[in-house]
Amino acid sequence: MRIDVVTIFPEYLEPLRHALLGKAIERNILQVGVHNLRSWTHDVHQAVDDSPYGGGPGMVMKPEVWGPALDDVAAGTGPAVEAVDLTSAIPHRMGPPKTPGAAHGGAVNGAGPLILVPTPAGRPFTQDMAQRWSEEERLIFACGRYEGIDERVIEDARKRYRVEEVSIGDYVLIGGEVAVLVIAEAVVRLVPGVLGNQASHQEDSFQDGLLEGPSYTKPRSWRGLDVPEVLFSGNHAKVARWRREQSLRRTLANRPELIENLRQQGGLGADDEDFLKGIQGGPASNEN
Ligand code: ADE
Repeated sequence: MRIDVVTIFPEYLEPLRHALLGKAIERNILQVGVHNLRSWTHDVHQAVDDSPYGGGPGMVMKPEVWGPALDDVAAGTGPAVEAVDLTSAIPHRMGPPKTPGAAHGGAVNGAGPLILVPTPAGRPFTQDMAQRWSEEERLIFACGRYEGIDERVIEDARKRYRVEEVSIGDYVLIGGEVAVLVIAEAVVRLVPGVLGNQASHQEDSFQDGLLEGPSYTKPRSWRGLDVPEVLFSGNHAKVARWRREQSLRRTLANRPELIENLRQQGGLGADDEDFLKGIQGGPASNEN
């Protein structure tokens, strides 16, 4: 997978080099290019924004800067050629050096890159989106700042690319950069080969429509608190049932609407319904 990010704050994307994503870069599963939007300006001030038509506070990002930036990054032309890919921050086992500025146009799957625009006005980001986007060859993130990007940039881009506007929550950030970090991490960990243990994300919260239940490790007793007895039973079916019930309990307490969604989809069995009936209204607890 290749991820390109267009931003006026390239240094904000530095964390992508670390930890899991850094490992994926190092192992050549992931390439990340970060592009400074100001490379596509032509004036001495390198202005990327202007006052909004119709008045109002804030500034709007200019279409003449964003349009060519997205086209060049998609095609690997113009200032996009100069972008040096992020290298991993992980010092050991460095892979072969990558050619700086190598052209990276054209997606292998023939669909072209998917352009993602983080904005509080977008569709809420979900695990399903992360799963879908993890199957893409190329993602291009367009980070807006201020009051947003001139709407015609999105309208024009839709003529040539697939474009999705996405929000990471019902709150307003200063710009899209932090949303890119969130989305990129959720997406990249699902790319085959990135997580050490492929099975580990099959039990993630949301993967089966429920939140993940509690986890325990050694010691068996800590500060007077014991690990639930069932986990030592060696009875896999019993453990699986207990885990399911813990997920149901936590989901009912923290995200009751997810229980209702699952019910509508026929995802709750008779034993799930019995369990829920038994705890409905009762306090959340981890007891078995
Ligand atoms: N940019 C500003 N706020 C945002 C949000 N909530 N989600 C995605 N991008 C944003």
